Amino acid sequence: MSFDKIILATHNQGKIAEMREMLKPLGIAVSSAAELNLPDVEETGTTFEENAKLKAEQLSALSGLPCLADDSGLCVDALDGRPGVYSARYAPNRDFDKGMQMLLDELSATKDTERKAHFSCVMAFARPDEKTQVFEGRVDGRIAQAKKGSGGFGYDPIFVPDEGDGRSFAEFDGAEKNKISHRGRALRKFLEYLQK
Ligand code: IMP
Repeated sequence: MSFDKIILATHNQGKIAEMREMLKPLGIAVSSAAELNLPDVEETGTTFEENAKLKAEQLSALSGLPCLADDSGLCVDALDGRPGVYSARYAPNRDFDKGMQMLLDELSATKDTERKAHFSCVMAFARPDEKTQVFEGRVDGRIAQAKKGSGGFGYDPIFVPDEGDGRSFAEFDGAEKNKISHRGRALRKFLEYLQK
């Protein structure tokens, strides 16, 4: 499969930084939707897959270029999977400090053993006149009792992955997070698909 440019269908700077880093080995130009003045597609779906496909297909159709979209979110067991697909909107005006505090408040009576959560990511790769491909990734962990660390983005300071040493994702460096994260896992499946 050959193309020399790909668009990332997101305006989220945190996601763009992580995806750019992981796409470096491809050696192709990677532009974000914002850089090409493409719109932020409204997420009207009710699943990660629906939203990822919507974003990738609309922006690929608008630009005529291959487009990779990520839809992701934090699913908390004790909250029946919330905020899930609504993770970005759960935080008032996308203020994640407030959003994290709201989550910690909702879980204030929840014991450590019952604070299981996971991040999910679905990536959709759309190209004009081709069937859209979908790749999934997930990382399991738990919600910390308080925010820790200053790296990453979104809910990283309150998420402690199981495959770690008790640090939150905001205390991981970028490469370390990409190795085990939901986005890293989905993106590696995309890279494998390209090599087939
Ligand atoms: P969307 O995919 O644009 O709907 O946004 C997903 C939201 O989920 C982001 O705005 C973040 O709040 C959250 N999220 C997704 N992935 C991560 C992550 O790796 N770390 C922290 N928060 C994340």
